Amino acid sequence: PVLVVDYGAQYAQLIARRVREAQVYSEVVPHTVSVAEMLEKEPRAIVLSGGPSSVYAEGAPDVDPKLFDAGVPVFGICYGFQAMAQALGGTVEHTGAREFGRTDLASEGGVLHTDLPARHPVWMSHGDSVTKAPPGFSVTASSPGAPVAAFEDTRRRFAGVQYHPEVAHSPHGQEVLRRFLHEVAGIRPRWTIASIVDEQVTRIREQIGDGRAICGLSGGVDSAVAAALVQRAIGDRLTCVFVDHGLLRAGERGQVERDYVSATGVNLVTIDARERFMTALEGVTDPEQKRKIIGREFIRVFEQAERDLKAEGDYRFLVQGTLYPDVVESGGGTGAANIKSHHNVGGLPDDLRFELVEPLRELFKDEVRRVGLELGLPETIVHRQPFPGPGLGIRIIGAVTAERLSILRAADSIAREELTAAGLDRDIWQCPVVLLADVHSVGVQGDFRTYGHPVVLRPVSSEDAMTADWTRLPYDVLERISTRITNEVAEVNRVVLDVTSKPPGTIEWE
Ligand code: XMP
Repeated sequence: PVLVVDYGAQYAQLIARRVREAQVYSEVVPHTVSVAEMLEKEPRAIVLSGGPSSVYAEGAPDVDPKLFDAGVPVFGICYGFQAMAQALGGTVEHTGAREFGRTDLASEGGVLHTDLPARHPVWMSHGDSVTKAPPGFSVTASSPGAPVAAFEDTRRRFAGVQYHPEVAHSPHGQEVLRRFLHEVAGIRPRWTIASIVDEQVTRIREQIGDGRAICGLSGGVDSAVAAALVQRAIGDRLTCVFVDHGLLRAGERGQVERDYVSATGVNLVTIDARERFMTALEGVTDPEQKRKIIGREFIRVFEQAERDLKAEGDYRFLVQGTLYPDVVESGGGTGAANIKSHHNVGGLPDDLRFELVEPLRELFKDEVRRVGLELGLPETIVHRQPFPGPGLGIRIIGAVTAERLSILRAADSIAREELTAAGLDRDIWQCPVVLLADVHSVGVQGDFRTYGHPVVLRPVSSEDAMTADWTRLPYDVLERISTRITNEVAEVNRVVLDVTSKPPGTIEWE
């Protein structure tokens, strides 16, 4: 792999993704990993990422000079660039010329920037600057605040840039990274979706042998793709279990039962547990309590399914759709400021005593979607927007009843139809529709006074759901949604728009 050394900034995962976009496999490692441990992984190259620290700061992580004696190509970015300069005998100074944000880069010669416009914008974020490149390096770019903004030593296969090539604000950044990987480091681009599928299928076969596996489908992308991979590997020795808890949106069960099965031919057991969940949720209004109850019931249903299947054969393996960011965030990387606070309702307890099969552990979300398409899954599944495990249960503010569920389902399905018709599905992250079931509002329809409920539209844009902004939907789309909901859903006489970003508001209302 190419190792991306994480100095604790937000950028390491993004850099790893960009490396893969250049069709080279990458992994994130914390900066506390020793050079010897890195070399054990036989890296094709090492990328030193940006970090929050100044190289002068007390306790600033430094680069072990042994890294540069191993014959492995190294690319330094931002903090990594400065740490590299310092370790190899260049000069880093606190010049007082700080640069944050978009900056004009002037470049000349060298492999990284050849043929790019002589001046182009890049994204900078630094206080200190490299003022002299280490011996053996040529300086190929500068900016107003960084006399040495890029350097390279193609003989030793070392290079670095002061700016952030991984962010979209550096329009040529991906090209620069690609040139480092392919041209300076000489790595052949082989990480393609087809190769990922082949490799995972081989590994799954090795792991499962002639055993059997079970997979809980949530209706979401990750479990769907994980199951499709395992199915490709072991065929009908995989059984998928889909629990209908009655908190699904309109058409979801059908989508799994019909679209998924027709695309994959997988064995699917659907368990209708609607009554059980309704009974357990009766009268419960507290959001955390709802989540706990839904989680607990889910596990019970799943355990029952597992016992039933045991009669057919020994299901020793459990497939889970764990993604690479989850792996990094739970200790694979450092500086994990963003620890996931949500557990999928499908998150099963350890004492189910299965051996886990996690074929997506090395993949980012966008790769998972492409693997899904490669395996022939329909767009409706692969590009599905996130939907919380507890489903509509946490979008009814108040107690959950069958009647309230059907009101919300109808309103939600109108909003989704109109957003899809307006071609907005890829622009928004998701758009929860929330029923304020304990609130009444007065309205007038025809000549009659009505006393119904408001629903809230919560369209958000986001990269990763950790933060989000409310989406500025076109007024005409909002108008169509509002008109249709109030006309077609008798119990709703008011549609309101949530214009809160996250933070301070979470995406869901509960
Ligand atoms: P919040 O409301 O915390 O939501 O801003 C962030 C993202 O997570 C989804 N979400 C959940 N997903 N179980 C899940 O599987 C949950 O309990 C849960 N709560 C929120 C939400 O839809 C959004 O995408």
